[in-house]
Amino acid sequence: MNPYDQVLDATISHLEKLKASGIKHVKVSQEILSSLTMPSSRAVETRASASPAATSTASGRSTIPVTPKPVAVAPSLPQSKVSLMESMAEEIKQVRGEGEIPGEKGLALEQVKQRAMVCVKCPHLASSRRNVVFGVGNIDSPLMFVGEAPGMEEDQEGEPFVGVAGQLLTKIIKAMGFGREQIYIANVLKCRPNTPGQTAGNRKPSEEEMKKCLPYLLAQIEIIQPKIIVALGGTAVEGLFGKTDGISKIRGHLRYLRNIPVMPTFHPSYLLRQQMLTEKRKVWEDMMKVMEHLQIPITEKQQGFFLKA
Ligand code: URA
Repeated sequence: MNPYDQVLDATISHLEKLKASGIKHVKVSQEILSSLTMPSSRAVETRASASPAATSTASGRSTIPVTPKPVAVAPSLPQSKVSLMESMAEEIKQVRGEGEIPGEKGLALEQVKQRAMVCVKCPHLASSRRNVVFGVGNIDSPLMFVGEAPGMEEDQEGEPFVGVAGQLLTKIIKAMGFGREQIYIANVLKCRPNTPGQTAGNRKPSEEEMKKCLPYLLAQIEIIQPKIIVALGGTAVEGLFGKTDGISKIRGHLRYLRNIPVMPTFHPSYLLRQQMLTEKRKVWEDMMKVMEHLQIPITEKQQGFFLKA
């Protein structure tokens, strides 16, 4: 198969996958749109002579139906057609904000995200939130961290664990030998619990809020299929499993959610309030169990973290 046919096939198959997964439109720049709809020889001319000014006026994006349009390119100009299809694939990547065209997992997660982004199951949270904080990180990660709900900073930034508790979580992740971007991080609740009449502070999500939001997290877990989940704090455990004994009692003991092991441990904000080395060590011992489960070698140095000098 020649390179043009390869790119064409790949693009058609990608668009068909998007369509099959329920996505009806992709955004493309005005330039690509014009190239697709004008006679191909002109399209090539236009692309070849596109000035910076012409490109910048094309910054407003349009949407086109997810229907392959191979007829828009003339069979007589294969190299130009290749670059046209490549540009289109690149457009799809950029629009989706991803380094590469998403695979099935990415598309499935994107669909769940799109539903969560417009969720109004808790009208009081939908009206008070700045952002739906869906989740962040590597969707192929063997390790997933689950917290309880976004706080003020997370609500502002649209990303979980970016405040002080998040900075501590990032340190824990690094101590385990990972980069934050290698892990997937999410919360039971995707919206910040509102605090009417208060200018600061957070509140624990209600049982009802967690029940309504849980399907999003379960869908994330189902799609990502981590090898192990760390549940941060008693509320996260309660959100996942329902009411349990207190976190001090259950931490460090694996439990299972749809056959996926879940390690309950203290929430990082507990460690910030309670600075004792013994409490940090407990969390670290839980993390070493997680590392063992993932068959990650634990160095002598790591084994000694948070032990008395
Ligand atoms: N605490 C949580 O449980 N989740 C966040 O995202 C931030 C703080």
